[in-house]
Amino acid sequence: MIDERTERIRIAADYIKTKLDGESPSIGIVLGSGLGKLGDKIEDATVIPYKEIPGFPLSTATGHKGNLIIGRFGGKKVVAMQGRFHYYEGYSTDLVTLPIRVMSSLGVKVLIVSNAAGGLNQDFHIGDLMIIKDHINLIPNPLIGPNMEQFGERFPDMTRPYDFDLIEKAEAIARGLGYKLQKGVYLANTGPTYETPAEVRFYRMIGADAVGMSTVPEVIVARHCGIKVFGLSVITNCSNDSTRSEAVNDSEDVVKQADIAADKMIAIVTGLIKKI
Ligand code: HPA
Repeated sequence: MIDERTERIRIAADYIKTKLDGESPSIGIVLGSGLGKLGDKIEDATVIPYKEIPGFPLSTATGHKGNLIIGRFGGKKVVAMQGRFHYYEGYSTDLVTLPIRVMSSLGVKVLIVSNAAGGLNQDFHIGDLMIIKDHINLIPNPLIGPNMEQFGERFPDMTRPYDFDLIEKAEAIARGLGYKLQKGVYLANTGPTYETPAEVRFYRMIGADAVGMSTVPEVIVARHCGIKVFGLSVITNCSNDSTRSEAVNDSEDVVKQADIAADKMIAIVTGLIKKI
């Protein structure tokens, strides 16, 4: 029996295939808050608004556009999500991750994910870029439910969710450009509240370096599909670990800081795609 999830993925993928001019994309990119401008640099672009794609949800978050962009970037055929879906918007984890299964159906073998995140690590500064080397998931696991055997196995290994080879390549590119990159563990919680100071101290204690409200569901589903993953966070704010702090978290500031760091991120992602 074909389940409803499979049907929805197939309908969306079939629609997108009608917009491809022959060559299928092998690289997928998910652009987080403020980082959508990478999407504007894609050449020979076909822009498909999410609202045109049957089966796709609509994105509602601040600083996120809602377009799928197919074209050439760093010399490769790519499919990019300009804006993603978040669990806090009320979408099920199936819907949050549907575009990743669609990308897999289109032939994507490597996924590059980006996000804006709060810095938990006290050595981090606003504007730093952090390579995601591992994650902690505090959002319900998107693989809960009957396993979609056509994509992958019931109990996927998660020993190396982020590809070593891609991390090494990105580090070499950053060295060449003279950029300092941080590397750390990204913790995903549901949001939409920012963290309390006690949560900030707790997340630090369990080994997280940065915190956000996205990315990990997409990464889990990509790994389930056998897609290699590279992840980059922009540290847009330093998490407040004391209720005496004068600072507050503000989503407009998050988008502004992500925008400032976007050019560096674009340079690294361009270099990386050229080397894949
Ligand atoms: N917490 C959660 N998500 C975020 C943050 C944060 O501090 N900054 C950007 N996204």
